[in-house]
Amino acid sequence: MNLSIKHLYGLEGVPKEDINAILDNANSFREVLERPIKKVPTLKGVTVVNLFFENSTRTRISFELAEKRLSADTVNFSASGSSLSKGESLRDTVQNLFAMKMDVVVMRHPTPGSVKLLSRFIDAVVINAGDGTHEHPTQALLDIMSLKEKTGSLEGLNVAIIGDIRHSRVALSNIYGLKTMGANVLLCGPPTFIPYGAESLGVTVTYNLDEALAFADAINVLRIQKERQGKGMIPSMREYRNVYGITQQRLSKLKRPIIIMHPGPINRGVEIDTDVADSEHSIILHQVLNGVAIRMSVLYLLAGGR
Ligand code: CP
Repeated sequence: MNLSIKHLYGLEGVPKEDINAILDNANSFREVLERPIKKVPTLKGVTVVNLFFENSTRTRISFELAEKRLSADTVNFSASGSSLSKGESLRDTVQNLFAMKMDVVVMRHPTPGSVKLLSRFIDAVVINAGDGTHEHPTQALLDIMSLKEKTGSLEGLNVAIIGDIRHSRVALSNIYGLKTMGANVLLCGPPTFIPYGAESLGVTVTYNLDEALAFADAINVLRIQKERQGKGMIPSMREYRNVYGITQQRLSKLKRPIIIMHPGPINRGVEIDTDVADSEHSIILHQVLNGVAIRMSVLYLLAGGR
């Protein structure tokens, strides 16, 4: 099946049929990942460049692994050690890379909108691996895949996203993707972490964690993005943990299990306690495994026909 989109900038406006196609193919690729030889020739002859202008562990390794599993040729670029430090612009950097005949670019960049801008300079498939506080579509897709695996369907599922929503690209992509798939979404955090007018995205907002937990079949817990905010948004980390930290004590009051998710990196003892993150109801490491399958699927569906 062909997707209606040519690039993956974000999940805003991506139709349910496209998301379902990505999930279906990801399920097939999950089987490949279970085989003794975890490789298929699907993207033989396709060259992918991973442009990372910001730190990453999961996304970067996951994309690289997905590309290798599909037999693509991969090139990795880090901002540190590149000619950017000599004053070269993003446009020049990218155009020089593409003069070397790349087919696909996977980019993480601190500036919202930079990934979409990139496709004006180059003739290649462009995939967003996180652009500032804007979107992180493959993270939301792997979250959706992991939830669907656990619950069977997202239709009518209650998902609470808890934490620093304002600075989170994971939150925005999850909101778009979950709403498209029929889930009910609630945002919870201190008022300084909830964007003004968030309800216009079709979500419910609460500042009360117990209310959010009472609503939820699943929670997606976000870290505080210290690198993207000024001082004074919360009184202290200790105060934040006391009011919004996901602890076993708090969950045990519910008397029913809820699915625990976290996109990583985790700040244990701040937004979530270790015994919750590692509990039987946590699917955090499963999300990471599904990440490789989702990225294989996105690469295959967007670049397979080139
Ligand atoms: N979830 C996520 O994007 O993690 P990384 O920053 O390690 O890629």
